[in-house]
Amino acid sequence: MNKEEEFTKKQIEDIKKNALNNWLDYADNYEIAKKNLKIMVKGKGLYLYDIDGNKYIDAVSSVFTTPCGHGRKEVADAVYEQMCKLEYSPSLKNYYTEPPIRLSKKLAEISPGKISRSFLVNSGSEANETAFKIAKQYFWQRGEKSRYKIVARRNSYHGSTYGALSATGLSHPREPFEPLVPGFIHVMNAWCYCCELGLEPDICGLACLKNMEQTVVWENPDTIAAIIIDPLPFSHIGYPVPPEGYLKGLRELCDKYGILLIFDEVQTGFGKTGKMFACEHWDVVPDILVIGKGFSGGYLPIAAAITTPAIADGFWEPGKELRHGHTQGGHPVSCVAALKNIEIIEKENLVNKAAEMGKYMRESFKNIKNYPIVGSVQGLGLLFGIVLVQDKNKKRKINPGLGAGKWIMDRCYEKGVIIRENSDVLAISPPLNIGKKEADIIIRVIDETIFEAVRHFNLK
Ligand SMILES: Cc1ncc(COP(=O)(O)O)c(C=O)c1O
Repeated sequence: MNKEEEFTKKQIEDIKKNALNNWLDYADNYEIAKKNLKIMVKGKGLYLYDIDGNKYIDAVSSVFTTPCGHGRKEVADAVYEQMCKLEYSPSLKNYYTEPPIRLSKKLAEISPGKISRSFLVNSGSEANETAFKIAKQYFWQRGEKSRYKIVARRNSYHGSTYGALSATGLSHPREPFEPLVPGFIHVMNAWCYCCELGLEPDICGLACLKNMEQTVVWENPDTIAAIIIDPLPFSHIGYPVPPEGYLKGLRELCDKYGILLIFDEVQTGFGKTGKMFACEHWDVVPDILVIGKGFSGGYLPIAAAITTPAIADGFWEPGKELRHGHTQGGHPVSCVAALKNIEIIEKENLVNKAAEMGKYMRESFKNIKNYPIVGSVQGLGLLFGIVLVQDKNKKRKINPGLGAGKWIMDRCYEKGVIIRENSDVLAISPPLNIGKKEADIIIRVIDETIFEAVRHFNLK
């Protein structure tokens, strides 16, 4: 038996073998998976336990999904109760269940501005598909049928389904599936540390926003339905805070040309930035807010595109219903899990706690900046992105051939701290109820592992 005394050695061997033989997954490095497949079997609070009995601090909230931590009995109880009452009946067309209605009301309360009409789905990708369809049909039935394009940004991720992937501005997930959906246009992101134009933020005059407007004008604004952005760009580029005036300017640009603004907060929603939604930091409200991941705390799959009455009302007229839907969208049991998750976030004041602990951890991360390979420590609240560089002065990204980010992530793993790495950007996003003890361990482990990487790769 392993330390958790749940599986015998033989069972563990069989499970790992079966995973390799019968499973198809997006594995970053199949060789590593073959050597040591990490299979989590238990979670409690900030901790995860694998099948071999190892204990880890989940410093990335299981891909940014568990703001309240693991193993919350109150969520399990609520789910069990709903399952016993009514496990499933659809919320489509003719009749509905009660939990999605209760959840939609709650979302209206916690969402910014007039965002108050929810369309519930099962994943962040589906929620972005929904947002595009809302935007396109909204214009289509107003007689503005030429508005079919969606403007998105390079270096942003919006999901793996065809529309969401077409909006995604990363070549790696797109390449095998080209050509993608027509009508998706990409512009530069607002990433000052690695500005595509090589400009410095204090003198650039928001060149990224100008670039957006030039593209909109060039494409002809009357052909554009929506602009989608992640207001705090996602883990892949390490949550760079947008330059002052960018989001307000983007809102004005959309209003000027009658384009809908979509904020993809799948990764940044539910308190991680120190506000319930990241866009609240800049007081900018989109026309459609997209949420997922932390929405149910990871307890069950659920996501949503939420819009304003001004847009949603158009779909209530006879014959004008939104031509979109998923059999299990607004699943009553997932809705109950999401409601309980939000209740915990509110009751335990986790958004403010995330802001406080974010400050504490950011202060402690300051020393990490002294390492020659750490270019920038970005983010807001409890979302941290550490950008690894080859040359600090030239802000040149570290040679990807080294695999330094992955090396650091794997060493942290061995030391019992789970972080994430994409393109040599380290991402850290602990659950919102993290205490100083675990925060200090995370920082110490990352600090010493970066130190080891500098020596290992001989980077001075
Ligand atoms: C910003 C953002 N949007 C959309 C998605 C897609 O969500 P899902 O994986 O639930 O489809 C993700 C997932 O990582 C994301 O980070």
